[in-house]
This record gives sequence, structure tokens and C-alpha cells, in this order.
Amino acid sequence: MCGIVGYVGPKQALDVVIEGLRRLEYRGYDSAGVAIVADHRIDTRKKAGKLANLEAEIELDPLPASHTGIGHTRWATHGAPNDVNAHPHVSEDGTIAVIHNGIIENFAVLRDELIANGVKLRSETDTEVVAHLLAAQMKTSSNLADGLRAVCQRLTGAFTIVVVHSETPDVVVAARRNSPLVVGRGVGENFLASDVAAFIAHTRNAIELGQDQVVEITPDSITVTDFFGAPATVHEYEVTWDASAAEKGGYDLFMLKEIAEQPKAIADTLLGRIDATGKVSLEGIGLSDDELKSMKKIIITACGTAYHAGMIAKYAIEHWTRVPCEVELASEFRYRDPILTDDTLVISISQSGETMDTLMAMRYAREQGSKVLAICNSNGSTIPRESDGVIYTHAGPEVAVASTKAFLTQIVACYLFAMYLAQVRGTGFGESSSDIALELGRMSAKVDLVLDTSEAIRELAQEISDAQSILFIGRSVGFPVALEGALKLKELAYMHAEGFAAGELKHGPIALLEEGLPVIVVVPPQGHELHDKIVSNIQEVRARGAKTIVLAEDDDMTINEFAHHIIRLPKCPDLLQPLVATVPLQIFACEMATVKGYDVDQPRNLAKSVTVE
Ligand code: F6R
Repeated sequence: MCGIVGYVGPKQALDVVIEGLRRLEYRGYDSAGVAIVADHRIDTRKKAGKLANLEAEIELDPLPASHTGIGHTRWATHGAPNDVNAHPHVSEDGTIAVIHNGIIENFAVLRDELIANGVKLRSETDTEVVAHLLAAQMKTSSNLADGLRAVCQRLTGAFTIVVVHSETPDVVVAARRNSPLVVGRGVGENFLASDVAAFIAHTRNAIELGQDQVVEITPDSITVTDFFGAPATVHEYEVTWDASAAEKGGYDLFMLKEIAEQPKAIADTLLGRIDATGKVSLEGIGLSDDELKSMKKIIITACGTAYHAGMIAKYAIEHWTRVPCEVELASEFRYRDPILTDDTLVISISQSGETMDTLMAMRYAREQGSKVLAICNSNGSTIPRESDGVIYTHAGPEVAVASTKAFLTQIVACYLFAMYLAQVRGTGFGESSSDIALELGRMSAKVDLVLDTSEAIRELAQEISDAQSILFIGRSVGFPVALEGALKLKELAYMHAEGFAAGELKHGPIALLEEGLPVIVVVPPQGHELHDKIVSNIQEVRARGAKTIVLAEDDDMTINEFAHHIIRLPKCPDLLQPLVATVPLQIFACEMATVKGYDVDQPRNLAKSVTVE
């Protein structure tokens, strides 16, 4: 949700900023803009649409050389995604340029105050007020950081703000509240960004900023304070992946690359967490055995794809541990007055670790006295930082907006947690605990086998690409897989797609069936108590003229006569099946969007990290 970059150092600022924006474009692509400081003035260029439009604009109207710059790629909140509303926003006197991610909730009051003081606002954004407030503040503040601190004290809402001043070359100042910002420490140069991906080609040394902090960077210094100027302690860390991990690496699309990386992502997430006897260990979980034993209830909160991972986790947690588990959409959770006690464990699942709905849900849970465990892919992000413990997924950077490898690793992390909890509580898993843990260790190779069937799935997508609507059905853990398959298709191919629990078909959705409507069915492994019931569902669907596309185990012949198309899945334990069943649906959605000519990596209206509520 908006990407932000700032640079000071010996290199050409524009090149560094544009390169950083390219790596952050997944966060928003409604418009892009840059500001650079040179010769006591600020120059900006900004353009609606993708970064390429901005680059074309700069080509036509070049910027002067400069060693200090900021850049922004926007996901619009206030104001249409046009050139005027694009960031940076500049003060009337031209001395200040501001970029911003988040929402300034009291901007209307501040705007009215500025208008009453004779300021003429040019855009419809909430951001522009900061430029004018800061310009006014600079009449009394001793330096830019002081000025920004004073302005931040007047703002409510969520924001990362980055500013430059025409009279202070070699200084970039930023502030954060409830919105991401990391500092990159280089040698004789320093960086600011929403995500380390923006500066990973220059340095792996990163600094997390805390809540309500202001940072000033110069080529040789990084100074962090709170909003009142008191020095702040920060956490410095080394990023464990390099720039190549955030490149396409020979694939046409990030999404294709990330789908292909899933076996490795699963293996990396399991690494060192299951020993040869099937015993699970989870470093960083932050909860003692006594605490885990005393938990009476688990609530999982997450959004979108991560919510689907939570739904799968519920089946595993309740089956293996017998601890009641609920799954909640994070955006709904705190507004319905949930019952939370100190023997409730809340698990927040988030790839980015910055999703505002999930962050607010976990903060709410902590305020009520519950412990919070994060399952997260982004080291040092806000959600794990504010949790009691964390299980990191090791998917590596996920750049495509539609989540793929992060989803599978979230499921793996949830299984690991469920197995660990069963181990600590001595509940066993119903089945032999060590056997199922060892089976989990084999899932990476099984996902690899599914990837070998990609071509057949692509052909299927091409064959039915004219469909107006596609339904997905599943039972047990196949139900969240069906929801995930439908979500991927909606977000990438912009078409009507819905997932249902197959048992619910006859309670309403069956009325949607008509001649030729594709229905994708996730069949549980043979021997599962719901297997035969779903085979009956396939027959019901087919009898009403629908085209049945069936995902079933390798040797499941019971479906052959009712399926128009069969996608084969490697055999695995019931509860682990989502890891193999999801992959064909990701490939299918990716191909449907490609056939339709859509931008798979950056679907319309979306952004990867949703940092506003
Ligand atoms: C869908 C997708 C989103 C995210 C959701 C939560 O492909 O990526 O639904 O899963 O916005 O994001 P995180 O996991 O970053 O909290």
C-alpha cells in the first residue's frame, strides 16, 4: 500500500530511487513520483499510472544531477489516481516535498485550517496538508527533523511520511506511525524504504523503526528519536536474502517464479524444525510449555489468503490438539466484542506483517490480556514485533501481488504449531504424531510433482477461458482450498468465481448450475469419510450440465466416469492435502489471467501490503 524510497549518498539519487520504486511497485501502481534536491531547489516529476509512465516523463523532461532524493508509488486512498494527486506534494513556497503512505484521519480539519490561513491546496490528497503544515512549521523549527516532529504531533491516523527541504541537501527525514518504514545503513550513503527490497541491491544492513519515531538520514549518520525528540533505541539486523531473490530470475512473471519456488519455500520453512524422529521444535515461539498447556482456546485472525491458511489450521489444530479453535477475519474481529481472556491464544497470520486489519486485531487481543503468536514472512515487521512470539515462514520475498508461496508456507507453519502444541500437551495427533510430522517433511517433494503437471493445467485454462463464472467446491480442508482457488481467479482474471463447502451446494448454490458452467472439485483422499459424499456431489453437479474439473489423488478411479477433466494429486495425509491441491489452482488462475491479457503480477485496484483499514 504505497511504496516509499529515500536516498542520500554519492550516487545519482534519481537512479537509486527509481530502482527502489521498481522493486516496491507491488505495493501500489496508481501513480509514481520523485523529488530531488539540487542547487537550493526541489524538482519533482510525477505521473499517473505505472512507474514506466514516470520514467517516460523523466526521459522527456530530465532532472538535474542530485545526491538526495525521495520517490513514491501510490495506491490511492484520498483522491483519484491522476497526475495532480500523485506524490510528492510540494509546499507553496517550493521548499518542502512530502511523500506519504497511510491515511491522515484528521486531514479535513487541518485542510480547513490551512485554507483559512490563505493556503491554496492543489490536490485532493490528505498528504498535501503535511507539506503546507511543515513549511509553516519551518519558520520556527531549528531543523527539518524538529519541524517534522512538531507536525507529527498534530496528525492522527496511520502514516509513513518522508520529507526533503530545498535548503538542506544531504538530509532526508521520515516519520512513522502504524505504517512500515525501514532504514538501510550503507557506507557513506543511507536509505529509507517501506520494504528492504528497495535497497537490498546496495546494503543488507537494516534498521527497524518503532512506533511514533522520526529518523534523519545523511550520508554518514542515522538519528532516530520519538515524536518529542528523545533518542530512541532501534533494532539493527541483517537481511538474509539478496537482490537476486527479488528478481524474476528468467521467468516471465513473478507469480510464475513464486509458484515454482514453493517446494523450496516449504523446505526452508521446515528446516531445522522437525528432527529425524518427527519431533518438532519451534525457536522464537515465545510461549512456555506451561502457557501452551493452560490455553483453553485459540483464535486465528488474518485477511484474504492468510485467512484461508487460518481456516486450514483450524482443522489441524482441533484434530491434533483438541483445543477449540476459531478463525476470524481480522477486519471483523475487534468490532464484534469478542471474548478474550488470558487463557486465549490469538494467532495472527500475515505475509507482510503490516496488514492494518490484522495488526489492529492483534493489538486489541493483547489489550484484552491474550497472548499473541505471529506467523509471518517479513522479518522485523510490525506484527511479529508486537507479538509475544513468532513463527517465521521462510518463503523469501513475495513480489507478485497474489500470494502463492507465502500461503503454502503459512499452512506449513500452522501445521508445525499444531504438532508442537500436541507434543507439549501430550495429546498425540489421533494418528502417530511422528509419522505425520515426517510426512510433512515429504510435502516439498510432492509439491514439486504437482508442478510437473503445469502444462496440462494451462491447457485446461486456455480451453475454458471464455467461461463467465467458475465455481469451486471442497470439503474439510478442501473447502478453504476451494475458497483460495476462487479468490485467486477473482483477483487475477477479474471474473466471477466462488468457493463453497460442497455439502452446502444443495442449500442454495446448486441453483447457479447451468449447462457448461465449470465446477472445480477438490476431492479428499480416498478413505476419508467425506470422499464418497463428494463423489456424489460431482455426480449431482454433472447431472445439471456443469463441466466437472476434478482434483483427486493419483490412483482415485472412482471419479473417472463423472469428471470431464482430472487433475491428479500425489497421495498424502488428509490434512496435508491443501499443500498439493492449491498449486494447480494457482497455475490455473495465473494462466486464465494471462490468456485474457491481464497484468498478473499487478492486478487492478490491488496492492500487496494493505496498510490501511
Ligand atoms: C491474495 C492476497 C491477499 C493477502 C491479504 C493479507 O492473493 O495476497 O488476500 O493474503 O491481503 O496479507 P498479509 O498476509 O500480508 O497480511
